[in-house]
Amino acid sequence: MRTDYCGKLGNEHLDRQVTLYGWLDRRRDHGGVIFLDLRDHTGIVQIVADPVRTPESYTQAGQLRSEDVVMVRGCVSARPEYSLNPRLATGMVEVYADELQLLNDARTPPFSIADEEEVDEKLRLKFRYLDLRRERMQRNLRLRHQVVKVLRRYLEDTLGFIEIETPVLTRSTPEGARDYLVPSRVNPGEWYALPQSPQLFKQLLMVAGFDRYYQIARCFRDEDLRADRQPEFTQLDMEMSFLNQEEILLLNEGLVAKLFAEIRGIELARPFARLTYADAMERYGSDKPDTRFGLELVDVSELFVASGFKVFASVLAGGGKIICLPIPLGDGKITNTRIKPGGDLFEFVSGFGAKGLAFVRVRDNQIDTIGALKDSLSAETISQLLEKTGAEPGHLLLFGAGDGGTVREYLGRLRLKLGEELGLIDPDQNNLLWITDFPMFEWNADEKRLEALHHPFTAPRPEDRDDLKTARALAYDMVWNGVEAGGGSLRIYERDLQMRVFELIGLSAEEAREKFGFLLDAFEYGTPPHGGIAYGVDRLVMLMAGANSIREVIAFPKTQKAQDLTFGAPSTVAPRQLDELHLRSTLPPSGT
Ligand code: AMO
Repeated sequence: MRTDYCGKLGNEHLDRQVTLYGWLDRRRDHGGVIFLDLRDHTGIVQIVADPVRTPESYTQAGQLRSEDVVMVRGCVSARPEYSLNPRLATGMVEVYADELQLLNDARTPPFSIADEEEVDEKLRLKFRYLDLRRERMQRNLRLRHQVVKVLRRYLEDTLGFIEIETPVLTRSTPEGARDYLVPSRVNPGEWYALPQSPQLFKQLLMVAGFDRYYQIARCFRDEDLRADRQPEFTQLDMEMSFLNQEEILLLNEGLVAKLFAEIRGIELARPFARLTYADAMERYGSDKPDTRFGLELVDVSELFVASGFKVFASVLAGGGKIICLPIPLGDGKITNTRIKPGGDLFEFVSGFGAKGLAFVRVRDNQIDTIGALKDSLSAETISQLLEKTGAEPGHLLLFGAGDGGTVREYLGRLRLKLGEELGLIDPDQNNLLWITDFPMFEWNADEKRLEALHHPFTAPRPEDRDDLKTARALAYDMVWNGVEAGGGSLRIYERDLQMRVFELIGLSAEEAREKFGFLLDAFEYGTPPHGGIAYGVDRLVMLMAGANSIREVIAFPKTQKAQDLTFGAPSTVAPRQLDELHLRSTLPPSGT
């Protein structure tokens, strides 16, 4: 019987007989005495095998290798002064092993568990069970457990939410990504879709009168992967009846503040900051701005209306914008070569649609720039420019010219890149803010139609109902240090309004009926006003852990190519399985 955990032993256990189980972290042979580090999920304790005091275990210890699974029975002793280890939680004690049993031996692992050296991620993912043994991953997954526990307790015990599970085999709902489809064996030619979110189920639960629902829900989206995106991920999904937007935001601030207090011991300032979507785009070129640093964009179009600089003039004549990114200290650190064609900053913005980057350097009593811009800057324009951008000597002013949306996008990205490079971001700061008043729709140029920005069940602001095309939505995102942590909205609960929205996104009445008849019907049986939000649990934990990818907080994540390297998924299947599903692959058989 195990009496104790390795990482929990301390001076209070002195002279106690203990039985420990764990993995051999390291072995050190020291002039006749063998020291073993025994590790379990709580930590490490030093085991001593001494040829005189514990001769049997001494022989056994000599044969043990890293990652062997062992049982140790022995006595807890105080370490002599010279071997105290303040870096180890158990560093004041050691266990003299009266008995050592090898329960199962281990091959040499493909990477060291004991050293937290960086290992190629593919190798880590292939041997994920070993990677998860390492301290950092143990810490991350335990943190994840704590986060979910705090969320559940607060939602249930303080706010009166109940958890309800919703199906994973369902039909496609439009959240904007591609669906994962599952063929139906018993309904030939028909497909389930895995849920992109439980959106419509939770709305129906409000119709059903559950009032406050939540779920730790797995969601599936077949989209291109990034550091903060996985094809299957976990949402904290919530829905509430009879609350207005203000009430929902405040309730959620309480939830997130609770999380910070419990997990990090930090009291967040409340209420959270708020920015409208329009202001966020205007000032930061992003709907998820990192507001831990300045470098705000400034629209300087009007200063160049009458300027002789042809490039700017023609952009303005075509309805475009001239936007400035003023960078204090930029003068010394960002050379002309980096900004000019071929330079890294130029190439960076070109990747997002920039045609060029004009610039001005503000010196003590002069302005420095190159090319045609130089000749066209009148003394008056210069002084207006300095005033409008707040520029002082040492500032570098970068200019983007073109379609307003495109320019904001690439300058917004450049802002982030330079914020990091110039060390303007304080990693210990936590800026939480709401972005509100998103537009209901955006134009999908490829499909030449309007598309719901959030999803088509989002309600418009009441004052904007008459012109839905340009309406702002009762939608909100929670942004944490530049990461979209969660998003939600108030929902449409009237059939007519829902039909108008479907029509605007290009669904005919028949198509709407075919796809969403169940929802439209439900609206006719007494649907309460309702709204909700969903957080990305993986993202919340990533941010809490200070990790740079959600793969670091998911036990078995997928790679950039959506593969599970441990299990080797996806994989081919037996032809018989395809036959049963009435499927035939159009690909040539593998190996040909
Ligand atoms: P949305 O699509 O904004 O809203 O998703 C909510 C939150 O889920 C997280 N998230 C992801 N995390 C990891 N990988 C992904 N591929 C991924 N996609 C989204 C983000 C995001 O903020 N049904 C609505 C919510 C609502 O209206 O109540 C929805 O799913 O953190």
